[in-house]
Amino acid sequence: MNAIVRRQPLITFDDVWKTYGKGEAQVHALAGINLTIGQGEFVAIMGPSGSGKSTAMNIVGCLDTPTSGRYGFLDVDAGRLDRSSRATLRNRYIGFVFQGYNLLPRTTAVENVELPLIYRGVASRERRELAMNALADVGLKGRETHTPAELSGGQQQRVAIARAIVTRPTLLVADEPTGNLDTARSHEIMDLLTRLNAELGLTIVMVTHEQDIADYASRTLRFVDGRVASDTMGLETA
Ligand SMILES: Nc1ncnc2c1ncn2[C@@H]1O[C@H](COP(=O)(O)OP(=O)(O)O)[C@@H](O)[C@H]1O
Ligand SMILES: [Mg+2]
Repeated sequence: MNAIVRRQPLITFDDVWKTYGKGEAQVHALAGINLTIGQGEFVAIMGPSGSGKSTAMNIVGCLDTPTSGRYGFLDVDAGRLDRSSRATLRNRYIGFVFQGYNLLPRTTAVENVELPLIYRGVASRERRELAMNALADVGLKGRETHTPAELSGGQQQRVAIARAIVTRPTLLVADEPTGNLDTARSHEIMDLLTRLNAELGLTIVMVTHEQDIADYASRTLRFVDGRVASDTMGLETA
């Protein structure tokens, strides 16, 4: 039986435009995006290079704001918040995973995972416990004191995921999380993200170039020329 799961909206784009440059050099990176993503969804964004995926992800992650239109996150008009309010929103509600892991070198796995907790002012003993638990959650028990150089690419991405989830965010933003990994490692990372989505109810928005990676998501948006050209929402069965 077909059924569309109704969820509380987490993300809403209401005629969002992002324009760079002026006159002849003007580029509409986003050209009127309308979109709702519910709490607990796992969404993949695909599309050719230059189609606006990273621009959209920067707005989703409250790193950037629209030129016009409304970006709503958790009932907040996030596109109109100033830099420091957006930083607060990110710190409380959003975790980030990038293609290049972005771990501090010469710093142990557990110390890397503790970083967002330091920014939150969590006391050191609790910080260590939460970071150890997050590393266990991503399958890195026993590797806590390894530095990035002592870990494989797949393990480094697990550390980055542990760092992203240690604060128990509402949303995980992942820009090509498997872009630097071989096929086997990519599927392990996707199995992990799928489990975090199911077990924690973590909402995930992920950019990928690969269809077999997008297939892990329950919904795929295809961007073309700054617009959503297709959206599988409602096409999946539940
Ligand atoms: N900071 C910027 N300044 C000027 N143009 C930009 C900037 N960021 C992105 N663009 C342009 O906006 C369009 C969309 O870029 P982007 O969102 O990075 O696409 P994608 O991630 O899908 O490859 C491209 O034409 C790109 O050149
Ligand atoms: Mg990009």
